[in-house]
Amino acid sequence: MVTQLIPEQYMFLSDAQAIERITESRKQLGRELLVLGHHYQRDEVIQFADLRGDSFGLSRKASENKEARYIVFCGVHFMAESACILSAPHQKVILPDLEAGCSMADMADIDQVEEARDNIESVLGKEKIIPIAYINCTAAVKAFCGDLGGTVCTSSNASAVIDWGFKQREKIFFLPDEHLGRNMGYLKGIPLEQLVLWDPSEKMGGLTREQIQNARIILWKGYCQVHQRFAVEQIEYFRKKFPDMKIIVHPECSLDVVQRSDYAGSTSYIIDMVQKSGAGTKWAIGTEIHLVNRLRNENPDKLITSLVPGVCLCSTMNRIDPQHLLWVLDQLLLGNIVNEIRVPQDTARKARLALDRMLSIS
Ligand code: 13P
Ligand code: SF4
Repeated sequence: MVTQLIPEQYMFLSDAQAIERITESRKQLGRELLVLGHHYQRDEVIQFADLRGDSFGLSRKASENKEARYIVFCGVHFMAESACILSAPHQKVILPDLEAGCSMADMADIDQVEEARDNIESVLGKEKIIPIAYINCTAAVKAFCGDLGGTVCTSSNASAVIDWGFKQREKIFFLPDEHLGRNMGYLKGIPLEQLVLWDPSEKMGGLTREQIQNARIILWKGYCQVHQRFAVEQIEYFRKKFPDMKIIVHPECSLDVVQRSDYAGSTSYIIDMVQKSGAGTKWAIGTEIHLVNRLRNENPDKLITSLVPGVCLCSTMNRIDPQHLLWVLDQLLLGNIVNEIRVPQDTARKARLALDRMLSIS
């Protein structure tokens, strides 16, 4: 991806200056514009979202809105790509900073994924395994799943999608987040030795034929750098210090962290659980810091902290700032579409099969 700097007149604007001008530009664009915002976005940006949500909610919203000509996605690349695949042909999807990627999505390169499929099929044959991709992956990986009768899931519907997968075939090839896949498999009562890890850097994924034959879920070796920072020791620290504190984490955390927590779920689930809890409730939260800080600010009657105070920032989500948002809106007003997300037609068609299957399962 090419590094694209915003023009100098935007680069040097203060947040306050940019925010004032975004308000004006949005007014002028009116209903032609739909701004979608993921919960990890900064406050200065998410305040402009017409709709906020987790990955699932935002995919659904992108597929339902047919009115807006421009969908500006304040989130990361795979989210904007999903919106593009689900949008109508007359709609344009824009990501304010094209460098807002997701390191987990980058861990599943389509060539490696196809090679893994060939190797797994050389042991199992063609009809035994179905691919299911976490939505945090490239359009090419979604297309791979769609083409093979598989689907996509998000952290909010993974359990239902896994059940669906096992109705289709005996085994699941789950990618790219090993932790979400393992957490879901464990929840279904599958023993750990049947949740095996495919390491794309090793011959035959580092697995024996017996391990592949015996597996229920083959997990791709991929993870989120933000969520892997949460550890059991932090949970134990808070349990000792505040015995009545509730621990809630995102299922991209490791199995031991999820098992020691009180609750695990998507970003929307975390927000919902905290918001509906009573005054005086204490929470330690294992997810991205902007969401935790927002919950703390919006719930002054509760005691809210991050499981790892201060450091768990998704640096790519953080790339979307008021300056980039203003720039893409101003360009729309001038009739220019910058940072448009495009997906090749054949990839989009196959990826859409996978996304539509997911939407119908949920
Ligand atoms: P949600 O779908 O729960 O919002 O999660 C998206 C994500 O990227 C978490 O790291
Ligand atoms: Fe990707 Fe992790 Fe950032 Fe989510 S928090 S967008 S999985 S890098």
